[in-house]
Amino acid sequence: MRTFAKRNLAPSQIRRLLEPGPIVLVSSAWQGATNIMTMGWHTVMEFEPSLVGCIIAEGNHSHHMIKLSGECVINVPTYDLAKTVVGIGNCSGAEVDKFKAFKLTASAAQRVKAPLIKECYANLECKLVDAALVASYNFFIFEVVKARAATAPKVPRTMHYRGNGAFMLSGREVSMRAMFRPENL
Ligand SMILES: Cc1cc2nc3c(=O)[nH]c(=O)nc-3n(C[C@H](O)[C@H](O)[C@H](O)COP(=O)(O)O)c2cc1C
Repeated sequence: MRTFAKRNLAPSQIRRLLEPGPIVLVSSAWQGATNIMTMGWHTVMEFEPSLVGCIIAEGNHSHHMIKLSGECVINVPTYDLAKTVVGIGNCSGAEVDKFKAFKLTASAAQRVKAPLIKECYANLECKLVDAALVASYNFFIFEVVKARAATAPKVPRTMHYRGNGAFMLSGREVSMRAMFRPENL
C-alpha cells in the first residue's frame, strides 16, 4: 500500500486537513431583524436527538442574535451560491441587511422564528439546547427540530472550506455499504 513523504505542519494549520464542511449559511432573527453568516466549523454530535455543535465567534453579529433568540436555521448551499457564501462571510449584519444585499429569499420556518433561505439545498431548523460552552469556546449546541432537503439532485455539489480562501467541492459518491455494520450506517 502507498505511503507518503511528509513535512512538518504547524498545529495552527491542521484545520486545513480536518475542516469538515459542507459550508453552511446560518440564518437568524432577533427583534425584527434577520441575519445570515457563513460557517464551516460545525460537527454532528448525536443522531437522536439530532445534535449539532458549532463555533460562532463572539465578534459576529450572529453570535448575539442566536444567543438571545436561542434559535437559528442551518442552510446548506450548493456551489452555484459560491460568491454569495463568501460575500456573506465577509460583511456584518450589524451594517448590512444580507437577505436584501445578496438577493436571497427568506421564508418562514415551521419550528423557529429564524427564516429559511429558499435558495439553499437544505434547511435545518435549530434550537439552542446547551450554551454551557459559549462563554469559554463560542461553542453552541443545537438540536435540529425540523429539517427539509431538496429531492434533486440526489448528491448536492456542496462546498467544503480548506482555509486560506480555498474550497473543495463534493464529487463522486462511492458506496461502501456492504462492509458496514447496521449500527454504523
Ligand atoms: C468560508 C467561511 C467560513 C467561515 N466559518 C466561520 C465559522 O465556522 N465560525 C465563525 O464564527 N465564523 C465563520 N466565518 C466568518 C463569518 O461568516 C463572518 O465573520 C461573518 O461576517 C459574520 O457575519 P455577522 O457579523 O453578520 O454574524 C466564516 C467565513 C467564511 C468566508
